[in-house]
Amino acid sequence: MKVLIIGASGFIGSHLIANILTSKPSWNIVALDIQQHNLKDYLSHPSLHFVSGDMTQMQSWIEEQIQICDVVLPLAAIATPATYVQDPLKIFSLDFEANLEIVKLCVKHKKRIVFPSTSEVYGMCNDTEFDEEKSNLILGPIHKERWIYACSKQLMDRLIFAYSNHNGLPYTLFRPFNWIGPKQDDISNKKLGGSRVVTQFLGNIIRKENIQLVEGGNQYRSFIYIDDAIEALIKIIENENECATQRIFNIGNPHNIASIRELAQMLLSIAKQHPSFEQHATEIELIDVPAKEYYGAGYQDVQARVPSIWRAQTHLQWQPRTDLHTALSKTVEYYLNYVS
Ligand code: UGA
Repeated sequence: MKVLIIGASGFIGSHLIANILTSKPSWNIVALDIQQHNLKDYLSHPSLHFVSGDMTQMQSWIEEQIQICDVVLPLAAIATPATYVQDPLKIFSLDFEANLEIVKLCVKHKKRIVFPSTSEVYGMCNDTEFDEEKSNLILGPIHKERWIYACSKQLMDRLIFAYSNHNGLPYTLFRPFNWIGPKQDDISNKKLGGSRVVTQFLGNIIRKENIQLVEGGNQYRSFIYIDDAIEALIKIIENENECATQRIFNIGNPHNIASIRELAQMLLSIAKQHPSFEQHATEIELIDVPAKEYYGAGYQDVQARVPSIWRAQTHLQWQPRTDLHTALSKTVEYYLNYVS
């Protein structure tokens, strides 16, 4: 199996590559990214061919690679909600326009694409668990710019589906539901909202800053540990007996539900066990902050987000296994050791 991964050094790409290199010795990876810091341990591996470069400037190289690989994963995207609000045009140009070029090349060469959709496409859906084929996708008004990410991803999902139905594009869409773990975001990024919530709170703890709970932190998410999520992604790529062909899968853990306030409390209690951060964690307070103040007027939140995963369980024969406390402990251990 020859796998082309674009955006290879990101959170998902780097964990995926680590897993493939250890669990799939017969697979070969061609990887492209503008950065390489998350891949430094693997760059000399004989099964990984890494190329450094900007995907928007490398169309002909990408086209050549698409023709000779078996499956394409375009993973390059910005996925931090603060950026959706502050720089929505950047989201459209990278997450949608740049990736559309890759999708079109896959259509042209009839190459299988495994594309990252997002839990965000369900938006403010009221279902207790979001279903890939039944749930409505509910976004807010245009002036709530947060939704440009969900809207761009939704349009890409619809295009891929249409290309499949009308042009024979083989595809799988996967929807990450708050994947967490090491290497998710840059812990040294001090910008408010510069990271997703787990890295943001850990950065706060490391810098001894109070944790800010947007609108009190009663909104909740279900979190899945990256290793569990990558196992599902490997099964999707492997596609044994076409189990993932022309399907959409939520990849999350509906048992690991926590409010954002509970998440902050869990992270503080885990950090207290670490000698270098015990005092930080004891002194830090949880502060309520209005969403408008934290993100700006264009923000609107998702109050509850839990996936239905029966399709992934049934078709992929997959099951998430890591409980939330273990997932957070492993993440805390990685980041606190990284900085101490
Ligand atoms: C995320 C991102 O959009 C994507 O990474 C991804 O597609 C998707 O969800 C997913 O992983 O499922 P969200 O969960 O809202 O969206 O993003 P976070 O930045 O992780 O925030 C989670 C919650 O924590 C939000 O309600 C946010 O308001 C809150 N938060 C965040 C705080 O209360 N304080 C902070 O300092 C940061």
